[in-house]
Amino acid sequence: MRVQLIGFGNIGQGLARVLLEKEKYLEKRHGLKLRVVSISDISGTVVDEEGVDLKRALEVVEREKKIIGYPGEEMSGLEAIKTVDAEVVIEVTPSNIKTGEPGLSHMLAAMKRGKHVVTSNKGPLALEFKKLKETAEKKGVAFRFEASVGGAMPLVNLATEMLSGDEIYAIEGILNGTTNYILSRMTKEESPLELVLREAQELGIAETDPSYDIDGVDTASKLVILANAIMGVDASYRDVKIQGIRKITPEAIKLAKEDGYVIKLVGEVKNSHLEVAPRLVPVNHPLNVDGVLNVALLRADIAGDITIVGKGAGARETNSAILSDVISIWKNGACL
Ligand code: HSE
Repeated sequence: MRVQLIGFGNIGQGLARVLLEKEKYLEKRHGLKLRVVSISDISGTVVDEEGVDLKRALEVVEREKKIIGYPGEEMSGLEAIKTVDAEVVIEVTPSNIKTGEPGLSHMLAAMKRGKHVVTSNKGPLALEFKKLKETAEKKGVAFRFEASVGGAMPLVNLATEMLSGDEIYAIEGILNGTTNYILSRMTKEESPLELVLREAQELGIAETDPSYDIDGVDTASKLVILANAIMGVDASYRDVKIQGIRKITPEAIKLAKEDGYVIKLVGEVKNSHLEVAPRLVPVNHPLNVDGVLNVALLRADIAGDITIVGKGAGARETNSAILSDVISIWKNGACL
């Protein structure tokens, strides 16, 4: 199956590493031979119909900080999608919540050319979920985005595939690893927010602009994706009521702790209402998970409550979700 990789930053490079590691496993277990026929980043595109040498691509990007040194062409990701033959486009460019670009154009262009899309990119989905879903349906291609919410926590596919007979009537969750790490550290050590934020950035889980984490933007984007994908709510980022954790002080956390609570940044969808806000969570509640972990509590009409916990960020972990979406396309479709 031929794949185009659009975006070669943290997640894209993580995918190249996972593909190198899993090459034999994928063939043996799933009969899947993946060929990455192009890799694009901001500098340009490398194309090789026989399959780009991923080891070399990683060496080049490590040395030169751009893929074009491979050597490649000054061809944009969008151009590559339009001109290079492939069955699947993996879109992992940085998320943009203001315009959704360049990811939105990449995904729509891929779908219009009959290419399946797999993505971890939250911005385009949080802004234009309906348009993307409808375009995919119209063009008869798969649109898979497990990696966009909760990294390695297989939430979207769990709800839409494993619980497809259930109606999910509410979702509550901690969907941002950075703020959960910050609040956990503040709870343990009573340290100020700014100090712990720097540590979260060093862990490589914070957004390029960490105010996206702190101010609840990232959680809100993920909540919109869940509301659309799992509950069929036609919501966009602009519909979410958002409050971040900037005003949470070590004193507030201490007081909560004395009463048997922790403070968590929780996203909730219920009755088509989407809200992100810091909340008091009892210490023995399933939503009380520590550190960079994410958690989601699904309320299903037949199955009852289901809680899922997992690593919500990280280049390797996120690629567990990307790979499972690619394998699913391979198994369901007639890709060559
Ligand atoms: N900044 C995000 C987080 C990365 O902390 O969860 C994963 O979406």
